[in-house]
Amino acid sequence: MDKKIRASVPAKVILFGEHFVVYGKRALAAAINRRLAVEVSSREKRGYHVKIENIPTFGLELDLEARKGRDRKVLPYKDYSAASKALAYVKGSVEYLEERYGIGDEGVEIEIKSEIPLSAGLGSSAATCVATIAALKEYFGVKGDVERIRSDAHSVEKEVQGAASPIDTAISTYGGYVLVERNEVKRMQLAELNLIVGCVGSIPLSMDSTKASDLGLKTKTLVAGVKDKREIFTSIFDSIFDASDEITARAVRAIEDGDFVTLGALMNINHGLLDAIGVVPRRLSELAKVSQELGALGAKVTGAGGSDEMGGVGSVLVLPGEAGDSIQAAMKIAGALAMDVKTGGEGLKIET
Ligand code: MEV
Repeated sequence: MDKKIRASVPAKVILFGEHFVVYGKRALAAAINRRLAVEVSSREKRGYHVKIENIPTFGLELDLEARKGRDRKVLPYKDYSAASKALAYVKGSVEYLEERYGIGDEGVEIEIKSEIPLSAGLGSSAATCVATIAALKEYFGVKGDVERIRSDAHSVEKEVQGAASPIDTAISTYGGYVLVERNEVKRMQLAELNLIVGCVGSIPLSMDSTKASDLGLKTKTLVAGVKDKREIFTSIFDSIFDASDEITARAVRAIEDGDFVTLGALMNINHGLLDAIGVVPRRLSELAKVSQELGALGAKVTGAGGSDEMGGVGSVLVLPGEAGDSIQAAMKIAGALAMDVKTGGEGLKIET
């Protein structure tokens, strides 16, 4: 058999309501024009061979002083476990498909090419699951619609990481915009937005390597941290969650009205609420603050956020107004990867 299937999916940003969505509150997310592709082709040997290529890396660090007199190796990352964790989603997808649909192991090459930084809150895990499942199902002729692919991918994501809201897999599958309301996923037609995503990706050399290897479980750790705090401050947290719910509803109206000033102000308030529940580390706080000071209409943490203990790794989302160039420059000076992105792009695409 000499066929090749290519499935590609977009990255996502959560515009409003991350974390609060875990408690049934509204959240709005959008696809962005950065994609991950999985290519499946035949191979002579039995079994699956998986290769991951060109995941964006950035913010390299080298501490020469501290290594004086020792063997000075230049390492791009202190720990590359985030990248190897990505493989857990591929393995999870293969095992799920074997069990559920009985796909064979006649010899398959799986190659992943990604423009989505890892551990950045941009949905790389869900993207890996959706694209791997779509490509393998097509390759093995497993029948079913796109909705089935989405729910298969959601099951795998939950299995691998313990818990996951349906947002990420919905965006990877459908593209466009998705509103989650009481755990129901609704697709939305909204206008394209031009945003900047700033990712802090480098793990500081000062960081303990066991913490670095937890990065693949960053979302799980942060979600659990919020749950623990809510148990102590239940009524306070519930008011914060309700406020977020209203912010998301008003944000949808602001996008529909093209009212970017209101939209930006709502992003800033959402950021404050994320800080209140403890998911804004210093490095992401600085990126948001600098963007706001330089004239952004709005700036907020996006996705799970981060913690100082886990190196402050994560992303911010900025509605730049007229200040795009200076915000990009400031992010680069701060060692972040700054990307201009457009929201609302195409979802899963399968090419044979
Ligand atoms: C992760 O991208 C967003 C969280 O809300 C978790 C989830 O929705 O599964 C933190």
